[in-house]
Formats: sequence, C-alpha cells, structure tokens
Amino acid sequence: MELDEYAEKFSSTVTNGFIALEIAIGHKLGLFDSLKKFTSPVTSTELAVSCKLKERYVREWLGCMSAAGFVSITPDDKYFIPEACKPHTQSSGFASVLPLIAANTASLLECFKEDGPKGYDYSNQLDTLLWLDHNKKSCDSKWINENLFPVGFKEIDTITNVLDFGCGPGSLTIKLAEHLPNAKIYGVDIDRNSIEKAKEKKAKENVQNVEFVLVENDHLDETWTKKFDWITLVDTLHDLPNPNFSISDIKRVLKDDGIVSAVDPCVHSDHKKNQGNQSAATLFVLSTFMCLPSSMSREPAAANGIGWGMQNRAEFIKSHGLKILGDEHNGLIQFRKA
Ligand SMILES: C[S@@+](CC[C@H](N)C(=O)[O-])C[C@H]1O[C@@H](n2cnc3c(N)ncnc32)[C@H](O)[C@@H]1O
Repeated sequence: MELDEYAEKFSSTVTNGFIALEIAIGHKLGLFDSLKKFTSPVTSTELAVSCKLKERYVREWLGCMSAAGFVSITPDDKYFIPEACKPHTQSSGFASVLPLIAANTASLLECFKEDGPKGYDYSNQLDTLLWLDHNKKSCDSKWINENLFPVGFKEIDTITNVLDFGCGPGSLTIKLAEHLPNAKIYGVDIDRNSIEKAKEKKAKENVQNVEFVLVENDHLDETWTKKFDWITLVDTLHDLPNPNFSISDIKRVLKDDGIVSAVDPCVHSDHKKNQGNQSAATLFVLSTFMCLPSSMSREPAAANGIGWGMQNRAEFIKSHGLKILGDEHNGLIQFRKA
C-alpha cells in the first residue's frame, strides 16, 4: 500500500467509525425505518414526532446523516432518503451491535493487561446475545435446509432428538423445532439469562417440541448418551473456554450415525491470509470484545475466539477422532464419529 493510501485509509476508517455509531443510534430509534416510510421529504419535527423523540436530538442526527451523505435535504430544509437508496440502509442493523459491544470496553482493557483478568463470559451481555438472537428470527425452513441441515442426511421424519448447543436466547432452537415438528429439540446454554429468555419465548410462542436446559459445570445430562441424531453449534464452538471437554461430551451424546453441524465466522487461521479482508477485520472486532474473552473466561481458557480460524478448527475436530464431511474450511463444518 502506498503511503498516501495508508494515511487516507487509516483516517477514513476512524471517521467512518464515528458515523457508524450514529447509524446505530438511528437504527435503534427507528429513524431510518420512519424516514423510509415517508413518501415525501419531512422536517426534523415531523420525523421526531413520528418516532416520539425530541426534535433537537433528531436534528443533530440528521445533521450527521446529511453531512455523511446518507440523508438528502431539500432547499426548504426537509429531509429524505432517495427512493433508490432506501433498500441499501439494511446494514444499520449490523451497526447497532457497536454500542452494545463497546459497553465491554472497560473490562476488555483490563483483560489486555498482563496482570489483568483473563476474560469474561456472557452473563453481563444479554443485550448482545439478544441482538445475535434477533438475527436468527428469519432462519426459516428454507434457510435451515440451505445453511445448516446436512446434505444427504436422514429423512426428517426419522430424526427424533436434536441438540442446539450454546442456544443463547433460543430463537434458532425454536425455528429448528418448527422445521422438525416430529422431533424433540433441546437448547442448552451455560448462560442463565439466555435460558430464562428462551423459556419465556417458548411459552409465548407455545412451542411444544422444544426444551431449554441450563448446563451446569459444562456437563450435559448423564442420561443423554447417544441420544441425538443432530447437534448444532451456531457461533459457539470458538467461544468455548473448554472445547476439549465440550467436544468429548458432544461426542458422547451423539448417536453413532448422528451428525454435528457447527457454524463459526469464516476467518483464516493464518493472519497473512486475511490481509486486506475487511470482513475478517470486522469479525476480529467482534471476537476481541466478545468471543476471545468468552473463550478465556475460565480455565482451561482455550483462548480460541474467531481468530482460531477455519484451519485450526478443522485440526481440532480431527484430533478428537471425528470425521469431517465435505469442505472443512467453510464457516459451516459438518462432522460425525469416525
Ligand atoms: C455467541 S453466542 C451464540 C448463541 C446462539 N447460538 C446464536 O447463534 O445466537 C455463544 C453461546 O455459547 C454459550 N456457551 C459458552 N460456553 C458454553 C458451554 N460450555 N456450554 C453451553 N453453552 C455455552 C454462551 O453462553 C452463548 O450463549
């Protein structure tokens, strides 16, 4: 990279970080949604009233958005998002996790220090887990078939028990239950707040074939040996502080002809191979604030996080005598007993 290019990229990345925070605010408060619903330009007061907000704050937000070029202004000071641009504000939802993970900053700074704590778990991060969970609400049967269900696996009707390991607040677990109405789906997590939320959701949506279980001391139920046809770990394997124990326990509860599907963010284990990859850079941010501290939250503190990468993950799975099916370097990896 040329020196000018380096300087420009560094400075615009910092500037964009500020603007992304303002985008997050607009997303959380429904300002983008409201602006997009208007069919003609509106004043800051009209926008504020439509969202039940204070006009003065909304005007400051509009000042930022219009300066950044994401909201247009008419000569008589009315604001709008051009029709053709409206579908392209979707990633405001992704920005909305920024203030949530930033709340970990003080704890994270301590973790970086040589003599500081090793990490932290998700017990103070329910908002972030709910944000992740919210993104799973659109995972319908089509999504499950295309992104999670093992190709050429058993007929759906023959699957009796499914385990969603590290289920968080449970939206995907409930989607799995809807997808497999004849099976019993178990969602397990070590996070008490998440399991409470998941149980509330189950009751509210009146889903019968799902059960949420709080895991104590990492141990899955002793009576579950060889119980599960299919086990899913979505955004979870790289977070585990004791993956060696967890994978052995997962192997124990998997039927001999069962399959495990694990999804982890797709990053190369070799930093050199991620150079210039903005998506990998973004995933490393999430990992630094959430996943690495989780994987270091208690002994033996595997310290994996997203930076563990696809190659190390595949080696780990093989080292436990498991057989990988298909592409071992995909975000989605499928494996069974050898
Ligand atoms: C990043 S979240 C993913 C949650 C959910 N699968 C999703 O995709 O929204 C990782 C989850 O793994 C859980 N977890 C961490 N260690 C665990 C363990 N040993 N057993 C079960 N769950 C665990 C965390 O509490 C957290 O809810």
